[in-house]
Amino acid sequence: MPINPNSLTYEGIIFFIGFMGCGKSRLGKKLAANTNRPFIDLDALIEQNESKTITQIFDEIGENKFRELEKTTLQNSHFPPNAIVSTGGGAPCFFDNMQWMNAHGLTFFIDTPIPILASRLIKGKAIRPLIANKTEQQLINYIETKLLERRPYYQKATISLAQADITPEIVIEKINKIF
Ligand code: S3P
Repeated sequence: MPINPNSLTYEGIIFFIGFMGCGKSRLGKKLAANTNRPFIDLDALIEQNESKTITQIFDEIGENKFRELEKTTLQNSHFPPNAIVSTGGGAPCFFDNMQWMNAHGLTFFIDTPIPILASRLIKGKAIRPLIANKTEQQLINYIETKLLERRPYYQKATISLAQADITPEIVIEKINKIF
């Protein structure tokens, strides 16, 4: 059923967070298209600002400096007030980024099960420097360990979305229940 763009009455920024491969950008793009709102992918914005891919940035300046760049891009970009923003999987877990997102908008954690993350990341690992060289088994171990470490940050999101809830309609329904 087509969504009426006006059905989303919340006017602030919506942030989608979660592990690599959870579907943040996909859901963000769909919701933005359905509600006529601007969509911003934080990694794409970093790439555009630096005129480099995320892989090149990791290679050239390393992860720590990438995290600083990620924080500055998140916190200093002045997103449109009704933007829909998807962040890289690590963004909520560094500095005060999670606190900042909660202070500046509504956060959604997309809680995708590990087998689904793994099957997507096997295919999409080449563009992700943290997993680019891992075998399938190493990748599964990495997801399990990292997700455990990151979950406490992700769980600071205002709303968690289970696999079955990853649709623009359900996101809108959940927001409208709060506002
Ligand atoms: C990262 C996730 C990536 C990207 C970078 C680091 C992470 O974004 O920011 O490769 O630390 O989880 P996606 O979650 O969009 O793949």
